[in-house]
Amino acid sequence: MPDDIIVVEGLTVRFGDFTAVDDISLTVRRGEIYGFLGPNGAGKTTTARAVTTMRRPTAGRIVIDGHDVSVDARGARELIGVCQQNLALDVDISIRENIISKGVLHRIPRKELEARMMELSDVIGLTPFLDKLPRDLSGGWKRKTVILCALIHKPSILFLDEPTAGLDTQSRHMLWDIIRILNKRGTTVFITTHYMDEAESLCDRVSIITKGKIRATGTPRELCEKFGSFTVEYNAEDGKRLVKFFHTREEAKQFYAEKESEGAVLRGTHLEDVFLEYSGKIDVSRIEEVMG
Ligand SMILES: Nc1ncnc2c1ncn2[C@@H]1O[C@H](COP(=O)(O)OP(=O)(O)OP(=O)(O)O)[C@@H](O)[C@H]1O
Ligand SMILES: [Mg+2]
Repeated sequence: MPDDIIVVEGLTVRFGDFTAVDDISLTVRRGEIYGFLGPNGAGKTTTARAVTTMRRPTAGRIVIDGHDVSVDARGARELIGVCQQNLALDVDISIRENIISKGVLHRIPRKELEARMMELSDVIGLTPFLDKLPRDLSGGWKRKTVILCALIHKPSILFLDEPTAGLDTQSRHMLWDIIRILNKRGTTVFITTHYMDEAESLCDRVSIITKGKIRATGTPRELCEKFGSFTVEYNAEDGKRLVKFFHTREEAKQFYAEKESEGAVLRGTHLEDVFLEYSGKIDVSRIEEVMG
């Protein structure tokens, strides 16, 4: 039986009449990298905020490594490091003071805290920015500060809400390496991302959430295989690019031959294809009319 480090049952979050998260249940296994994928407004951040005790849910049960957050939020908080999507930094104090204030919350002795901050800053490249104010940093460096804050108390579970949004390519790869290294040492990771290549290469399992409901969960491979491991992409008459899935290469080849004159490409199915099947593509056909 898998060892579930995060258990969420029947989680619902409502804002007034609007249900942002609608009775979802999920489990994250100890030591895995779990991806939470979904279009803008699907409910990813709201879920992450509830699970990390930052928002009280309307209904549902959340247990983090044995700590039911409704009765022992503090115990749960000790185990988790959170990189929030909205870069919650105190704008009036320096980057150094921001990091220290996060560490103090975890009751890390001051000397140890400063030593850890310096070591982590060195790894991430943040040292030259420590005495600046958040407003003097670019978006990417602010995000790296928040990532550092999430790591400061050596949490056993990391929640990363779009941690690579706005990071340059080099820094994305740096963060992937950090995630992989920490995961190898036993850290469990809950990550949201809009980059399907990132999810495909990092995550052991992913869930796809749309409109507050989880539509699918599995390894990226399992989700692709459900639709068919082979994809033919081709141009439709209206200029749109379409995809069709196949379970065998033979079937895919046959269809590809039929569509070859329509710019067809035969390739493996990607998580991005699966994601679009669940989320649906946004219809922009009116753009011609609107732009005149
Ligand atoms: N404090 C709030 N008050 C009212 N509605 C909210 C609040 N926070 C979130 N929502 C709504 O809940 C829904 C889910 O938002 P959420 O931020 O969880 O989406 P998301 O999946 O994280 O999207 P994104 O990919 O854009 O970050 C959205 O419709 C959003 O407008
Ligand atoms: Mg979000």
